[in-house]
Amino acid sequence: MAQNGTIENGDSRNTSPPPLPQPVKITEIKHTKIFINNEWHTSSKGKQFPTINPATGVKICDIEEADKADVDEAVKAAKAAGQRGSVWRRMDASSRGRLLNRLADLLERERAVLATLESKDTGKPFLHAFFVDLDGSIKTLRYYAGWTDKIHGKTMPVDENFVCFTKHEPIGVCGAIIPWNFPLLMLMWKIAPALACGNTVVLKPAEQTPLTALHVAALIKEAGFPPGVVNVVPGFGPTAGAAIAGHMNIDKLAFTGSTEVGQLVKAAAASSNLKRVTLELGGKNPCIVFADSDLQLAVEETQKGAFFNQGQACTAASRVYVQEPVYEEFVRLSVERAKNIVIGDPMEPRTSHGPQIDQHQFEKILALVDSGKKEGAKLEFGGCAVEDRGLFIHPTIFSDVKDHMRIAKEEIFGPVQCIMKFECQQDVIDRANSSQFGLTAAVFTRDVQRAMSVSAALEAGTVWVNCYNALHAQTPFGGYKMSGNGRELGEYALAEYTEVKAITIKLSEQLRL
Ligand code: NAI
Ligand code: MG
Repeated sequence: MAQNGTIENGDSRNTSPPPLPQPVKITEIKHTKIFINNEWHTSSKGKQFPTINPATGVKICDIEEADKADVDEAVKAAKAAGQRGSVWRRMDASSRGRLLNRLADLLERERAVLATLESKDTGKPFLHAFFVDLDGSIKTLRYYAGWTDKIHGKTMPVDENFVCFTKHEPIGVCGAIIPWNFPLLMLMWKIAPALACGNTVVLKPAEQTPLTALHVAALIKEAGFPPGVVNVVPGFGPTAGAAIAGHMNIDKLAFTGSTEVGQLVKAAAASSNLKRVTLELGGKNPCIVFADSDLQLAVEETQKGAFFNQGQACTAASRVYVQEPVYEEFVRLSVERAKNIVIGDPMEPRTSHGPQIDQHQFEKILALVDSGKKEGAKLEFGGCAVEDRGLFIHPTIFSDVKDHMRIAKEEIFGPVQCIMKFECQQDVIDRANSSQFGLTAAVFTRDVQRAMSVSAALEAGTVWVNCYNALHAQTPFGGYKMSGNGRELGEYALAEYTEVKAITIKLSEQLRL
């Protein structure tokens, strides 16, 4: 008989929390070359570029730099891999699914290695990389693995003696240009649906963060994908990136990055071969906190939304409108919460806030913070760089922000939360919508009627109610207005990676389907 308060034999309850995952000691980076046809290549121009750890400013390693000629080789490989009669084109759809799942298994195996590489290359906390980026990447792969043999067309009851049906075919060679804020996750958002639909890929990681894409390239080969199905060309935007955007043999382009470059790549696509383009660009995302909301929850979620990934997220919660009766309390609680943020070495488990990605972004953010001070916003917290700490910036909170200020209009892409006051619902909806962007938005209220009417009125591709940054592989993601074109994730993304073929057969007799 067990004594009171002890646990009997056979009771599987475990009261101690599982140990935290640990970063892996990496003495040498294995994969630093251009990946074409499942082989590693040196730069055709003989050039390399360094990748830097933004937390320390120290070079991690040199990477072979792809330029136009290397992109040409990668596109040749991708085209051959996807042509009629190729292993990839003849493969059963369910086998494609098995390959994607095998790649997901390898990501599980390499989870700590990939999270370590991602943390070193971006400066994001290791545990965030492990739990957020890796989790999202693996789930995205598994989700699309399940789609491979469920991508099918329709049969249409047309007039007269015809039978008509559609097939959803791969588009062909898909170019992908991705940014540095979520390198691995953005890679998966691009390649998983592309491969599920039977396409081939030429992917360019951001020049700041090539490491995880190259490690995944090795895993793609190990998983057994045929040569040329995925090719990775590390390099710079105006050279390798522009070569992809303007390439005559790339049939579709998926881009995530700045609005400015989004416009460039779309123009390049239009003036080359009119390749299909999906764009995931900037945001200036409004959160509306009503007086009837769970205020503590709203403080938590909006602040995590503002500071997550050091504010370097297209979903950053950068405009927070708070209703007048709870405004003062909201500001006070937000400042209290910010005091608990731990700035430090991204490899340390306690750290919740790392450095910005590079000097350019660091200066851009501090200039916007200065503009906020000059234009009369009230600085409540932070507002400067961390002394003697390179690219680290203190999480910053402004209150009394007015809609005309630069910090209320421009994408900051840094850890800056702007709090504004509002009185009535109609007015705040108009203010929330008065932006060229329309990526995400959030509403905090306990009133379901209000939640429904406000989310219907907001011009944004995603509206979160009583939560923030709740992203799922099953749910489409993308922007209204200048935040982008098309949708990633979910079933919706399949339409961006397939051509629809209508086949019409003339019959000798009328057949009612
Ligand atoms: P960017 O748009 O220049 O970089 C994104 C990707 O585009 C990188 O792979 C880059 O090499 C490539 N690229 C750059 N110029 C190109 C060109 N002419 N042709 C083809 N590809 C090109 O973004 P950047 O300069 O790193 O950041 C600037 C601002 O963009 C940030 O401050 C932020 O506001 C926004 N941004 C938005 C992101 C998002 O998730 N939507 C991600 C990164 C940046
Ligand atoms: Mg740029």
